[in-house]
Amino acid sequence: MTPPASTVRRRRTASASAAPSCIPPAEFAQRRESVLRALTREGGALGLVVAGDADPSLTAAWRPNPNFEYLTGITDESGAMLLFCPSHPVAARRVQLFLKPLNPELERWDGFRPAVDAALKKRYGVATILRTDAFARALLESAKRSKRLACLHPFAAHTAPVSPDLAIFKESAARIPNASIVDLSSLLPAMRSVKSKAEVAMMQRAADITAVGFEAARAAATPGRTEFDVQEAAEHAYKTAGASSTAYRTIAGTGFNATVLHYHANTAPLKDGDLLVLDSGASFGGYAADVTRTFAVSGKFTARQKLVYDTVLKSQLAAIRACRAGAQMSAVDAAARKIITAAGFGDHFIHGIGHHLGLEVHDADPQTALEPGMIVTVEPGIYIPEESLGVRIEDDVLITKGTPKVLTNAIPK
Ligand code: GLY
Ligand code: MN
Repeated sequence: MTPPASTVRRRRTASASAAPSCIPPAEFAQRRESVLRALTREGGALGLVVAGDADPSLTAAWRPNPNFEYLTGITDESGAMLLFCPSHPVAARRVQLFLKPLNPELERWDGFRPAVDAALKKRYGVATILRTDAFARALLESAKRSKRLACLHPFAAHTAPVSPDLAIFKESAARIPNASIVDLSSLLPAMRSVKSKAEVAMMQRAADITAVGFEAARAAATPGRTEFDVQEAAEHAYKTAGASSTAYRTIAGTGFNATVLHYHANTAPLKDGDLLVLDSGASFGGYAADVTRTFAVSGKFTARQKLVYDTVLKSQLAAIRACRAGAQMSAVDAAARKIITAAGFGDHFIHGIGHHLGLEVHDADPQTALEPGMIVTVEPGIYIPEESLGVRIEDDVLITKGTPKVLTNAIPK
């Protein structure tokens, strides 16, 4: 049955469930301007950033490709695309946002979406919003003019699908004589890795919410409870404290399970004398916290556990001190590894020191020296499976012009 036209109109203008963002629309516009400037320097090349398709299986919440989210703040338009045409003669067409056509029948299942009108253009801060059925022609028109297509998405391994902009550009370039495809895939990691004030505030909020969760988790980490009880306590507290979701699958591993880096079963009972590694974080407005603490289930560490714990803590504090503007992450890693190795546990620190953090928990990595505004995790660990003994301590660290700022300091360690 077709709904009455008046209902369709009313519903179409109602916004779907976009997550609230504390980042002002002007900041998204500035980010897009930065991309346009970089493309202009690249000979006026076109750029394309895609949101990706929603998973129809109901197994997980959909999120757009983080590059698309970073440049638009739009989180509820699967199939959307953002086309950059830096040398378009009409200034308002240098950034074009394409949204899937409305489909009232599908939207009865997935939620009603807004019409393209002046209000939507104002909300997204984009002057040109078109439907995706106009995309092929728009790309052809701009590509004929610029003959240069710059890849902004990261490249894929040969075993994975070709990155989405490269797939489209290859098809397009095959139809336009003298068109060339160039690599600008380092641009968005460089931009995304240096957080703005608004982003830092959101990540601090994610960290503070995570602190509330860890307090609840610590209270639940007692003999007779389970790893799942600890996970539940943390995640329930995140939601109550205003998180949009958990930032990644919580790892709650006790005893031997604490030595499995990405342990996810979270079903074992907690036993007196065991340690528990809790690696978990809240997400706020799409930005992640990523924290690990190691608790003694009984509340008291054995001498051996204390030795390992103190070594990890000492190495972590040294690594945090090494988080200085100009330093490479390899130097941060070396600062921790030196202490763990000197204590005789070098073979038991089996992963890298950390990673960039932001819209993704393992965020876009610029592979450059640290700069003020970058946020990285510092997470050394010692894992001794034969002793069922694992310790990891992880904090989220903001690089500044001087002393690094630990966003997750409120969580005791
Ligand atoms: N929080 C899990 C990881 O960083 O790998
Ligand atoms: Mn981490």
